[in-house]
Amino acid sequence: MTQSIQAIRGMHDILPDRVGLWQYIEDTARAVLTAYGYQEIRTPLVEVTELFNRSIGEVTDIVEKEMYSFLDRHGDSLSLRPEGTAGCVRAAIEHGLIQQPQRLWYRGPMFRYERPQRGRYRQFHQIGVEVFGLLGPDIDIEMILLTARLWRSLGLGELRLELNTLGDNTERQVYRARLVEYLRPYADRLDPDSRRRLETNPLRILDSKDPGTQEILVGAPRLLDVLGAESRAHFETLCAGLDALAIAYRINPRLVRGLDYYNRTVFEWITEQLGAQGTVCAGGRYDGLIAQLGGRPTPAIGFALGIERLVELLGQGNRSAHPAVDAYLVALGERADIESLRLAERLRDRLPGLRLLVNCGGGSFKAQFKRADKSGARFALVLGEAELERGLIGIKDLRAPEDQRDLDFETLVAVLADELSVNVVMPASAGMGA
Ligand code: HAM
Repeated sequence: MTQSIQAIRGMHDILPDRVGLWQYIEDTARAVLTAYGYQEIRTPLVEVTELFNRSIGEVTDIVEKEMYSFLDRHGDSLSLRPEGTAGCVRAAIEHGLIQQPQRLWYRGPMFRYERPQRGRYRQFHQIGVEVFGLLGPDIDIEMILLTARLWRSLGLGELRLELNTLGDNTERQVYRARLVEYLRPYADRLDPDSRRRLETNPLRILDSKDPGTQEILVGAPRLLDVLGAESRAHFETLCAGLDALAIAYRINPRLVRGLDYYNRTVFEWITEQLGAQGTVCAGGRYDGLIAQLGGRPTPAIGFALGIERLVELLGQGNRSAHPAVDAYLVALGERADIESLRLAERLRDRLPGLRLLVNCGGGSFKAQFKRADKSGARFALVLGEAELERGLIGIKDLRAPEDQRDLDFETLVAVLADELSVNVVMPASAGMGA
């Protein structure tokens, strides 16, 4: 037998029974973002490798070991995007979008060659937001308000907001030197990753999950203590704003991000319910990146959320996928085959929001009802010889112990509209009714 081909490790098919949950998250996010005046942008999945090297940072895990990079037929080094910010900034510079403030969002697959585990994949999906040209901290606050609204809209109550400030470049350099000075005497006791980072990217050591390293970090100097007046004021205004708007947060002085472009505000939304991969959304300011990529100096802030992680969270709470259909049309007898398709067209004309599945491929009354039940539909509609004779359509609520009722077309339209809360379109001209 020919061997079948499987999906690549860490890359997953999203099967129809899960897609409803994805669409629910995507649609809710789009509605919230639109309500805040954000506009969608779509950029390529592939960019020149240098874009990511220059933005994410040469000594980050992503650039050092997680990029899907390859030479194209022309010999240029290209990479599948590991995140969306770099491409979004590139596009904004290239098309002159940074002349005015911009509030943008995007969604789509990202690729990182990570060790796959629960909540961590090699192809994963983000919804991301980037704002260009606003210094904050008002926009920092708006962005956090927006995410808080999104969790509320999705029905997620149990996320924790962690907040930190990384200061500006100079402050970070001062802090970096102090941190290295503090850690160097402990170098032998640091975990191997942190020991390596002592030379390359010491701030990331703060993020270490190793208990031994964490113990050493207890006495480490704090970035908050080396902030200058401006950075301090930015952070204090941000915190005061969140207090005033009743957004709960926790300041986590160890919160540093895995990408190098951040400065000042950084934040993460975290859940305890997904184990080690509990960060569902993360972001912060990156005021230097646009200039670093060749644009004129422009402040910026953004975040991205991981859709897989939200899907898992929502799936856990038993808020499983909404059924894909509202009604299933059972068709019995030769004449009913075509008549059921005609009836379905008329119903779709009148009830554009109705999700209606027509039985195809025949089958007994019992078999068709079984399919109706399996489809998740709330109602079975029945069109057989008897109904056709009388000009009526049967309707049975599959989720309630009630008998089939036979209704004329207009009454059926009214009942479905009412029960399913979908809009009714009036007939195009009089006399089109049943
Ligand atoms: P990030 O922290 O690398 O930031 O990713 C943001 C979110 O994407 C994470 O919090 C997580 O939910 C999800 N995520 C990341 N990697 C994986 C993975 N391997 N599998 C599943 N989910 C994952 C960024 O990407 C920045 N571009 C965010 C940003 C936008 N900052 C400013 N603007």
